[in-house]
Amino acid sequence: CRVHQWDSEEPVPRAELLAGVAGKRGLLCLLSDRIDREVLEAAGPSLKVISTMSVGFDHLALDEIKKRGIRVGYTPDVLTDATAELSVALLLATCRRLPEAMEQVKNGGWTTWKPLWMCGYGLSDSTVGIIGLGRIGQAVARRLKPFGVKRFLYSASHPKPENATEFEAEFVPLMRLAEESDFVVVTCALTPATQGMCNKDFFARMKKTSVFVNTSRGAVVNQEDLYDALAQGQIAAAGLDVTTPEPLPTNHPLLSLKNCVILPHIGSATYATRSTMAVLAANNLLAGLQGEPMPHELQL
Ligand code: DGY
Repeated sequence: CRVHQWDSEEPVPRAELLAGVAGKRGLLCLLSDRIDREVLEAAGPSLKVISTMSVGFDHLALDEIKKRGIRVGYTPDVLTDATAELSVALLLATCRRLPEAMEQVKNGGWTTWKPLWMCGYGLSDSTVGIIGLGRIGQAVARRLKPFGVKRFLYSASHPKPENATEFEAEFVPLMRLAEESDFVVVTCALTPATQGMCNKDFFARMKKTSVFVNTSRGAVVNQEDLYDALAQGQIAAAGLDVTTPEPLPTNHPLLSLKNCVILPHIGSATYATRSTMAVLAANNLLAGLQGEPMPHELQL
């Protein structure tokens, strides 16, 4: 292959992408590259394969891609463990207030041992609600179970008994999940149906003592509504690995809240996982270019 490469960790500037893609047969992109009609038109009819180094594909205009008969590769499975691990780390950091506690050590707020100081919420005997019990949702449940979780609930577009049996997870409507969960973990894909799904009504149904964690896509959450729920003490805390936009501006109101822990979309960020994702993305692209089955092709 002859490769035209954007050789930087920074996202390729839009103009550079539009110029670079012209006349190419394949495109390897990241989740930060919006591949829409403009890009597809700039590429022209030569473009046959798009390979994204991500499991998420909400940055790809699938209707337009399908219309043009372009094949799409993506990277499921290989990041499941890393993302589930990070989801659990974020959940624990949020419910046990780790960033706030570390700050207290550094700024002299730690004066002595006090009975109620820095108390949070634990997983033991709790009810955990998972939105989207797919690969990552199951891997999160598998990791949380040994912490003594009493009950798992899940919401999804349809019941998934084959995924739920291992955890005896009960399929419930979204609002019931909000009402009954002590911890809500969002792991579903971003689709038109899930966009803005965690909103004012959802947070209003959650308990004041409940913790909300999102490691899927920022747009599943209505951030203004989340801010209000956190600021007004409608829910206890939130841990977010994903936001809208990314990066979140440093003056964003959510960053002013002590009960909101925000990470910079690092769910899959282990060296081994990112390396496996990169190799898989390259192999998807090569297979697509050769007209062979891709290791992981998205069925459009
Ligand atoms: C993905 O791949 O879609 C994750 O969000 C980042 O690894």
